[in-house]
Amino acid sequence: MRVALLANLKKNAPSWPGMSPDQWDDLDSEETIEAIVKGLQVGGHEAEFFEANLSLVETLPPFRPDICFNIAESHWGDSRESQAPALLEMMRIPYTGSRVMSLALALDKAMTKRVLAFHGLPTPPFQSFERMDEPLDDDMTFPMFVKPTREGTGMGVSAKSIVHNELELRRQIKEILTRYRQPALVEHYIDGREITVGVVGNLRGPVARRMPGDEDAPRITAGLHFLPPLEVDLARYPAEEAGLYTGRVKTELADDFYYLCPAPVDEEMLIDLNWYTAAAFRVMGCADVARVDFRLDRHNNDKPYILEINTLPGLNPRISDLVIEARAEGVSHAELINSILLQGAARYGLLPKGIQLNWPAARLPLSD
Ligand SMILES: Nc1ncnc2c1ncn2[C@@H]1O[C@H](COP(=O)(O)OP(=O)(O)OP(=O)(O)O)[C@@H](O)[C@H]1O
Ligand SMILES: [Mg+2]
Repeated sequence: MRVALLANLKKNAPSWPGMSPDQWDDLDSEETIEAIVKGLQVGGHEAEFFEANLSLVETLPPFRPDICFNIAESHWGDSRESQAPALLEMMRIPYTGSRVMSLALALDKAMTKRVLAFHGLPTPPFQSFERMDEPLDDDMTFPMFVKPTREGTGMGVSAKSIVHNELELRRQIKEILTRYRQPALVEHYIDGREITVGVVGNLRGPVARRMPGDEDAPRITAGLHFLPPLEVDLARYPAEEAGLYTGRVKTELADDFYYLCPAPVDEEMLIDLNWYTAAAFRVMGCADVARVDFRLDRHNNDKPYILEINTLPGLNPRISDLVIEARAEGVSHAELINSILLQGAARYGLLPKGIQLNWPAARLPLSD
């Protein structure tokens, strides 16, 4: 196939005086782009990278892509991660991964939590703040956790995110509102282990975008492959990171990533984590790939809470959680990339009829 890789390179991003140093921390590096293009080529495809901005309208048609491999985060607006896919839909060009509505929804953590809570899925109680002086709801109890509503890569997350009283809370809300120019998401602070579960595939069966009302209904996971869970080994980071997967841990300290993969969890916990991952994937209407972040409440029997679902999980060949999880199963970066590609291609009917995609969907000579 002819595959256009759509992404936004950190080095191509706009800059201005006084810009926050972490402004573009969630955009991609050349290392990531080169590895994905190479992986697609090793998979037998013609692949080329395109910076995902308005120029796509002119640059893409001459390339005549069969499908785009989309990891574009874009720069501006409250639904930025859905912008490149919206252009593709207007041009009627297929693309991998979740579609416009799911991407916009998953970028907004508060909206995501409303959808999860509606379906009875466990996510920390929360309140969204668009102004500093909004009164605190009665059911919100300290300690709380304050973060931006629509960022990734730990942006705006540091030890100061944990707040113990009204003064700290208001100070942190103000910091988020002014620095990131978006609502602050305030949640109950979940003290405990941190685990993330990657998933590749698409649900089969009568799943729609909702959960059955009956709690005893069969747990449908057919069509999804769960990667081994990754635990961030938070105890090994400097005390000033406060046991959190902070922006600093995800960027400056990323080359010395301390993790346990597969995470040491018992069979029952693994079944629950995978089920919640499938359920979040389902109610958010995701496609092809996602990663769900959890915290286990140490004060409540390690009860798992869903923090968020990442519809564009990082795909850096060395340091991204999803890639490390695949590697823990003996699946290379290139095999992971080609598996995501084929899942997308199958949804658009671009593969021979009746083909069953296994995991990994391709075994390739290049191993990393
Ligand atoms: N309610 C909470 N209680 C305790 N810690 C939290 C809570 N919410 C977030 N955290 C900590 O902050 C980190 C980042 O939060 P979250 O996953 O929501 O943001 P992110 O920056 O979008 O992450 P990603 O890089 O996965 O996109 C979590 O990994 C966790 O360590
Ligand atoms: Mg996260």
